Amino acid sequence: MSVGKRILVTGANGQLGRELREIASAEWLFTDIEELDICSKVAVRDYLLANGVGTIVNCAAYTNVDRAEEEPEVAKRVNSDAVAMLAEVARECGVKLVHISTDYLFGGEVFNSPIGEDVEPKPLGVYGQTKLMGERAVIESGCRYVILRTAWLYSTYGANFVKTIMRLSVEREELRVVNDQIGTPTYARDLALVIRDICECSVEVEGIYNYTNEGAISWYDFASAIVEIAGHNCRVVPCTTAEYGAKAARPTYSVLDKQKIRGVIRRDIPHWRASLEECIKRMAQL
Ligand SMILES: NC(=O)c1ccc[n+]([C@@H]2O[C@H](COP(=O)([O-])OP(=O)(O)OC[C@H]3O[C@@H](n4cnc5c(N)ncnc54)[C@H](OP(=O)(O)O)[C@@H]3O)[C@@H](O)[C@H]2O)c1
Repeated sequence: MSVGKRILVTGANGQLGRELREIASAEWLFTDIEELDICSKVAVRDYLLANGVGTIVNCAAYTNVDRAEEEPEVAKRVNSDAVAMLAEVARECGVKLVHISTDYLFGGEVFNSPIGEDVEPKPLGVYGQTKLMGERAVIESGCRYVILRTAWLYSTYGANFVKTIMRLSVEREELRVVNDQIGTPTYARDLALVIRDICECSVEVEGIYNYTNEGAISWYDFASAIVEIAGHNCRVVPCTTAEYGAKAARPTYSVLDKQKIRGVIRRDIPHWRASLEECIKRMAQL
């Protein structure tokens, strides 16, 4: 019914959205909640039709994993109800939906090797549960979609683990960081490049895909590398998840298998350490 050629990014003031802004051509449109609240069906439909949108990249989400435990209704409204509505409007307007999802879909079942796209998710907390509901709504809507599952996102923008460790390792002499959760950090710039490839690809890409950087480490390993690369003089001490005591439960192992996406992207997947060095270099230039 629509269908234009333009690519709309929602939630574009977040860390992934900001990275997309930096690499996108003038054809792309960027909105966050002030310009376009993804919870408003009328606003979304009007925007798609008025602007000739052919693809939505949904970066809007409720991403505070611990706070989601205290306000599950708010998390559900953005991560599930709004996504269901976006998918419905996308189908009605003939628009493709590229939706970003998470490794926190897992954790309820313990794995020790990379998790493929066809493994049944079992989330541990409200954030993962609401993201899973969002995914299911996209799949059931009948719209053309790509679900991109990623993990441990960081960037020069927004609030994230790298920026927190960079700050705390200057303020403190010692940091305690969890050493029994294994995953893969992902530089949002690398993910943004893959999203651009998928949106601008002449071959139609559809379905669920995992994308993270390469490698598998703990948060402790990650923090140690950040401090080392930044050249900060701070001791990083490993602790257990139980000792740390966060509000939300998190997966002990959530490394995602990237075999499937290797078949559709034409670029190498950078190792987490190389991308971290790149990001810290960019931070120093800002
Ligand atoms: N961060 C991670 O470690 C991580 C890991 C795996 C997957 N992901 C997924 O990757 C995607 C991007 O994450 P991110 O880290 O870039 O998130 P982010 O920095 O939290 O950005 C999300 C953006 O969406 C906006 N937003 C919230 N509700 C909205 C609404 N109703 N309408 C329009 N915009 C709204 C937020 O605004 P406010 O800030 O004002 O709320 C924010 O600007 C999300 O789907 C997330 O679930 C993230």
